[in-house]
Amino acid sequence: MLSFVVIVCTIGAVTGYASGPPTSACADMYPTGHETNAQTGTPYFEITTAENTYSAGGTVTVTLTATSNYYEGVFVQARRATSNCSDGTNDGAVGSFTIPNGDTFLQLISCNGIAGGAVAHKTSSHQTSKTITWTAPAQTVGQIYFRGVFVRNEETFWTDIFSSVVKPTGDTSTDLTVCPVRTTLNGSGANRPIAIVILLSTIITVLSRGV
Ligand SMILES: *[C@@H]1O[C@H](CO)[C@@H](O)[C@H](O)[C@H]1NC(C)=O
Ligand SMILES: *[C@@H]1O[C@H](CO)[C@@H](O)[C@H](O)[C@H]1NC(C)=O
Repeated sequence: MLSFVVIVCTIGAVTGYASGPPTSACADMYPTGHETNAQTGTPYFEITTAENTYSAGGTVTVTLTATSNYYEGVFVQARRATSNCSDGTNDGAVGSFTIPNGDTFLQLISCNGIAGGAVAHKTSSHQTSKTITWTAPAQTVGQIYFRGVFVRNEETFWTDIFSSVVKPTGDTSTDLTVCPVRTTLNGSGANRPIAIVILLSTIITVLSRGV
């Protein structure tokens, strides 16, 4: 019996969790079992929402799409957008998900003490579109967005797929920050939104110099 357990654990590590991420991945959502860095090229996955506002206890319909090709693994949570990514506001999943009845690809995972705080795959079949539902906490938690890891295959995955910001109804303030995510096996790494901010500020600097 012990050797059986050891073999199962070893296969789990080698295959990068074909049956879904371990709960130890809840916090930084990095798929360490894949034993490599995330992709940095343009992803062909997106997370879209049917609503751009939410109310306390209300729902948001979320779609996980491969705009080309397919994905065979996903890991999705809602996170709080914030004005300070170091203050802990963004650190854990908020709200809970439901998945379609009888779905053979998706499962709910408990993260940040919330049953259904994350959605993940439970098999590694090929998918192009899945629609899930997010239910907001009983009290609103400010601006949120959906953050996903999409796995094309064992070595090819993106950790920085984000939806647009979804605001509490009546929140007319500007969008807060979608915080950087881990992109490398051995460190934190940069992420695309920060690279865009640096690129934009470089362009603005160059333009303001009249070059
Ligand atoms: C991570 O670090 C280990 C140990 O230093 C090294 O062997 C491995 O090549 C590194 N992996 C990546 C993807 O950088
Ligand atoms: C962000 O939060 C950290 C941790 O609470 C704090 O040390 C830092 O001063 C904050 N930064 C800003 C700009 O408020």
